[in-house]
Order: sequence, then C-alpha cells, then structure tokens
Amino acid sequence: MIEIKTTAELDLMRQASRIVAQVLALLKKEVRAGVSTAELNSLAEREIRKRGAVPAFLGYRGYPATLCVSINEVVVHGIPSDKRIIQSGDLVSLDLGAVYRGFYGDAAITVAVGTVKPERARLMEVTERSLASALSEVKSGAKIGDVSHAVESVVTKSGMSVVREFTGHGIGRHLHEEPSIPNYGKPGSGATLKPGMTLAIEPMVCMGNPEIIIKNDGWTAVSADGSCTAHFEHTVAVTEDGCEILSVA
Ligand code: CO
Repeated sequence: MIEIKTTAELDLMRQASRIVAQVLALLKKEVRAGVSTAELNSLAEREIRKRGAVPAFLGYRGYPATLCVSINEVVVHGIPSDKRIIQSGDLVSLDLGAVYRGFYGDAAITVAVGTVKPERARLMEVTERSLASALSEVKSGAKIGDVSHAVESVVTKSGMSVVREFTGHGIGRHLHEEPSIPNYGKPGSGATLKPGMTLAIEPMVCMGNPEIIIKNDGWTAVSADGSCTAHFEHTVAVTEDGCEILSVA
C-alpha cells in the first residue's frame, strides 16, 4: 500500500528533506581535491545532528556511515574512508538521508571536482536532466511507469544507460516504502499517483554499460566496465497538478 501523508506529516517530511538539502549544499562547498571522504561524512553527521535530526543511513541494514560518497565508477553506496582522497577531475556523488521527528528525507547530488572531462560533465548534465524530466511527470493521476520512462528516455537518447539493480522509492516514516520506482519502464504502467504520496526519485546513470558489481564490503556498487557514473535524487510530494520538491534548502 502506498501511504498518503496528512498535511501535518507532509510538513515534517518537508523539514526532514530541507535538512538533507541544507547539509548537501554545505557539503558541496567542501568537495575539493585533497579532502577525504571520511571528512565529508563527519561534517554531514555533525550538521544533521546540529539541526535536531538523526542520520538515516547510519546502521541501516548495517551501513557504517551517515553519508554515501560514490566517486567516478562507484555508482552508489560508497563508504567514506580517510584513505580515499578526492582528486581533481573526479565526479563525486553525495547521497544523504535524515530522520526528523520520525520522518525521513533523502537526496543526492553529483559534484564535479575542478575541471572534468567534457564527457563527464555531459554525464552529470544528462543525469540531472533525467531527474527533472521524471519530476515533470509527477502529478495526481500519473503512473509510476510515466516517471520511470521519463528517466530512461532522457538517458538512452543521450547514449548512456540506467542502472537496473537500484530504484527510487516511496519514503515517509521509513526510508524505503512502496512504491519502488525503477529508472526504466513503460508509460501508463504501474501504480497511480495521488496527492500526499511522497517519493524519492533517483536516477543512477552509467556512461557505458549498465551492469554493476558489488564489492566485497557488501555495499560499494561499481560499474562493471569501470565507466563513470552519476546520481541525483530528490524527495518530492505528489500534488493535484504536479509535485512539490521537498529536498530544497
Ligand atoms: Co533513496
């Protein structure tokens, strides 16, 4: 069943998601060559707690950190480490979740470090545009398949590919709720969106083939061909005639 949030619940979702967006904005400014991914994680945890929220990913199914930092061929779930130092030319994706008064917010951005290769800049642009296209499909009466197809269409028209093993998701009192939101699908298929549903939509895009491998740590997902990847995510609420992006600073 897809939960419909009340006005009061939506307000808490708005606050949780705003905290995530604020902390991501702050982290974005700290992403530069020479910084370790563990430093970003510490900053994320401190800033979330400062705002009266709790890290959502820490301990989730045993995930060991607050932040996922996924660099280049790492698609998602990169575990922060003081040994991993960010370099100029990297694409760094930051995925962050927070719980505020029982409600979850979840968002991700990808940041280019210094001057990146043109194809990497294009990968970022395409991934962000595929999220924008998905959001433009969200409204009361639309289907999950419309949203999924919008992502897939932007990505494949650009000669890139979407990861199939991970999906977007409903979100609310839990990080992951129904429905699952694949980044590929048929228009007109799947569940019908209704006002008050809250969704985390998150295209994960590969420059090359879409196959992924999970590393021995059980988390780090890398592209099998080693090609660069990007990830953007927003938490949104379905409205009568569109959507409200909740993960805005
Ligand atoms: Co998510």
